[in-house]
Amino acid sequence: MHWERVAWVRVRGTCADRGDPAGPAPLVTSRHEPPDPAPGPRAAPVHGGVPVPVDDTPWWQRAVFYQIYPRSFADADGDGVGDLAGIRAHLDDLAWLGVDALWISPFFRSPMADFGYDVSDYCDVDPLFGDLAGFDALVADAHRLGLRVIIDWVPNHTSDRHPWFVDAASSQDSAHRDWYVWRDAEPDGSPPNNWVAAFDLTEPAWTFHEPTGQWYLHMFESAQPDLNWDEPAVESAMLDTLRFWLDRGVDGFRADVVHGIGKDPDLPDDPPEVAGIPHCALNDVPVTHERLRTIRTLLDGYPDDRVMVGEVFLMSTDAVATYYGHDDELQLAFNFPPLFAPWLADRWTSCIEDARRALDPRGAWPTWVLANHDNPRHRTRYDRAAARAGEDAATNARRSEARARAAAVLLLTLRGTPFVYQGDELGLEDADVPEDRQVDPGGRDGCRAPYPWDGTTDHGWPTTDGVTTWLPFPPGADSRNHDALADDPESILHLYRRTLTLRRKTPALVLGAMEMLVSPDGTLAYRRVLDGDVCTVLVNFGGEEIDVTALGWVGAEVLLASDDPAPTAGWSGVLGADQAVVLRG
Ligand code: NOJ
Repeated sequence: MHWERVAWVRVRGTCADRGDPAGPAPLVTSRHEPPDPAPGPRAAPVHGGVPVPVDDTPWWQRAVFYQIYPRSFADADGDGVGDLAGIRAHLDDLAWLGVDALWISPFFRSPMADFGYDVSDYCDVDPLFGDLAGFDALVADAHRLGLRVIIDWVPNHTSDRHPWFVDAASSQDSAHRDWYVWRDAEPDGSPPNNWVAAFDLTEPAWTFHEPTGQWYLHMFESAQPDLNWDEPAVESAMLDTLRFWLDRGVDGFRADVVHGIGKDPDLPDDPPEVAGIPHCALNDVPVTHERLRTIRTLLDGYPDDRVMVGEVFLMSTDAVATYYGHDDELQLAFNFPPLFAPWLADRWTSCIEDARRALDPRGAWPTWVLANHDNPRHRTRYDRAAARAGEDAATNARRSEARARAAAVLLLTLRGTPFVYQGDELGLEDADVPEDRQVDPGGRDGCRAPYPWDGTTDHGWPTTDGVTTWLPFPPGADSRNHDALADDPESILHLYRRTLTLRRKTPALVLGAMEMLVSPDGTLAYRRVLDGDVCTVLVNFGGEEIDVTALGWVGAEVLLASDDPAPTAGWSGVLGADQAVVLRG
């Protein structure tokens, strides 16, 4: 694990005072005509005209989520930073693609020390992104298109400019002092324990606050003080923030470092063998489970299966599994080992087996993530790893998109809920961000580059008065942009769309059991089965074709191939280089 590359890795009651949800204004359409909107919230999904199989499983088990990092998705006001109106203007593109649900990363009021993960008001929209009425309109439009919306919730820490912390830091006797974690210095003046903060691993997870003479805890930046969930008023205030957004109609939350909301009350040193790893990757304390049960009860009190997917940033799938509780804590939890796994068949086999072994006995539903706003995009990661392993530049360039295509088929056909990170459907690579434009304390700018919508010079980000986008565009945006790829049926964008359409038509791929099959080294094979519906997925992780005729699928119907929009009906039995196929049967 390269920790330096693993990114990171109102007072109670007042939320309710915010304005009434505004009625939706007309949807701004972009290049794709939206399907006929069905009336009312949470309409039956109609993406691409293919109905979603409906049964009594909760929607989030059947859904494919699409992560939107709002600063970088689409900009409606020309200030070079994306916003909610920009997202709203492109909802029809997402419905066309065929995803089911959106996770929108933070858009709350924030000084932006961590680009929104430092919240100064949980119940308002930062003016950079719009306002509450704009958010309500976005949710209403999304629901009309059959798209669910979950939002980020940041319960572990606030901004140091949040009124709670401002008060807490005003004196040791302030009303909110105990809402944060304060401790005296050790006798030699050093911090209370050896915990290390994320981002800069030379920094302790503590900052000494001169005016009041104590250290305060922050697992991330010093501008992100950790809340003290042992204080009942904190729990109560944070539950109110959930109610605020649930009452506005969100379908759930992605809970940021949610395993952090319980801390060992003794704040013991991290053991020497892991000292130096950020404490946020180690914190795993029983009381958190109690708190998650309270949160779950709150969510279950709302209709329509409101969901919480927790970011449990622990590198053990067994540990992550415990955060599902016994169907009484998180409904979904991110499991990051696959996100850090190299593009190697045996490593993926282990990840899949680990997830099955840890989650199945609990009846816990897996999630699959290849990329997000905290880590290099998987295409970039796989290319870099191949180069490190000696792949020459020409081969690397040739195989690069093919690997990303095969990974897309894997992501969308494993048993569980997949999360697609914005731009992966374009096969984007990380931007090369020159030093003078780097802005993130965690070194994550590359994967956060603005989404190129078209091939014009501004790529659909029309800025005015010499303003530039907050980050440079990813490589190749002149041709690798949404509109160009939407016009090319052979593109990776169409591969994502085809795979999502196939998933929607194929109950086995959505809810079916998964059986691992024996296959040659360097490949992965699994069967998805639901009642009479059966299909088999084969993935070749290598750059040479592999003859698998001996396995017996010759002549099987090819439902999908990662490298061919119109594969021949009967399968040859030869798995192409860097190819993934889905076969019937
Ligand atoms: C995890 C988020 O994904 C990341 O972007 C953020 O910096 C940390 N949590 C702190 O909130």
